[in-house]
Amino acid sequence: MSIIADDNDFKQPREAKNPVTKAETTEFDKNFENCIRPKSFDTYIGQSALKEALQITIEASKKRELPLDHLLFYGPPGLGKTTLAGVIAEQMGAEIKITSAPALERPRDIIGILMSLKGGEILFIDEIHRLNKVAEEILYPAMEDFVLDMTTGKSQTVKTLRIPLPKFTLIGATTKAGALSGPLRDRFGIIHRLEFYTEDELAQVIKRTAGILNIEIDTKGAHAIARRSRGTPRIANRLVKRVSDYALVKHDGKITETIANQALDILKIDELGLDNTDRNLLKLIIEKYNGGPVGIETIATAIGEDTRTIEDVCEPYLLQAGLLQRTPRGRKVSPSAYGHLGYKKYSDQQTLF
Ligand SMILES: Nc1ncnc2c1ncn2[C@@H]1O[C@H](COP(=O)(O)OP(=O)(O)O)[C@@H](O)[C@H]1O
Ligand SMILES: [Mg+2]
Repeated sequence: MSIIADDNDFKQPREAKNPVTKAETTEFDKNFENCIRPKSFDTYIGQSALKEALQITIEASKKRELPLDHLLFYGPPGLGKTTLAGVIAEQMGAEIKITSAPALERPRDIIGILMSLKGGEILFIDEIHRLNKVAEEILYPAMEDFVLDMTTGKSQTVKTLRIPLPKFTLIGATTKAGALSGPLRDRFGIIHRLEFYTEDELAQVIKRTAGILNIEIDTKGAHAIARRSRGTPRIANRLVKRVSDYALVKHDGKITETIANQALDILKIDELGLDNTDRNLLKLIIEKYNGGPVGIETIATAIGEDTRTIEDVCEPYLLQAGLLQRTPRGRKVSPSAYGHLGYKKYSDQQTLF
């Protein structure tokens, strides 16, 4: 393995990227996901502490005959935030309107949706950290006092009109809780973080999905896929489909441990679920920056990704897996990443520079 690499060595041609392991949603996912999305707490696997807390909140609000407090869910993509909003609506017996911040660009978008709400309804806003200032200002009194404050006229003739809204529950989801403005965050009564899933939980997700899609899989096969799913149900579900294609074409269709491992090797997804982009990111820091720290912009330019994808999609799992560390001066690779990528020894590498 060469130790000194040119920046271009780390860039990949677009087509060589492996979107299977990137937890962001695509159009294809939306249709596929809608048929496998759990609709109740019973079928929503894992997140047990969160589930228990939510079930109590829901029961209490039903007893009081009041809508739920506004809820904010945060965590990396694919962990079940949108799914959970649907489960809550189901449990409350409430209607849910689903939108996302980029669709609420103009004031009339958010006003329109707020005015269309019925009492007890749930409004789900995805990527809520991307709401613009004007939309946020409209949302504050709506969340707090269930009113819309509208201004009409110009300068001296300005009039404020207060329009009452039915009591509703806002559920916000974000991959970046830190990017949410303070005043908006403060208006959520309940804030929860979604955690990465364990291997056992992901194996359950995989078995459930396989059942719905009529895919035959044994327990070891489910665990083999679970281990390489980056703690993320969305990725686990995608991998089941890809592995099932392989099993069907190359074997008799049934997924076993051996077949799962073969298929995942072909997809270049390693034992920790890392793909080429992740490995290139770590290798870059090791080979060109002596393990770091190095700034995120430098990394992004060198591997040909944008900083948002790195921060929101690649990094959370690399941090969780203990392969990468965030420091005030930039990103650092941890000793275990050296071993995982086949570098001889952390200390050997250090003395090379
Ligand atoms: N707890 C869970 N149990 C079973 N499947 C899940 C769970 N969480 C997520 N999924 C699956 O993963 C997919 C992605 O979940 P989603 O709620 O869209 O994630 P997010 O909104 O956090 O990006 C869904 O289609 C769903 O089938
Ligand atoms: Mg979502």
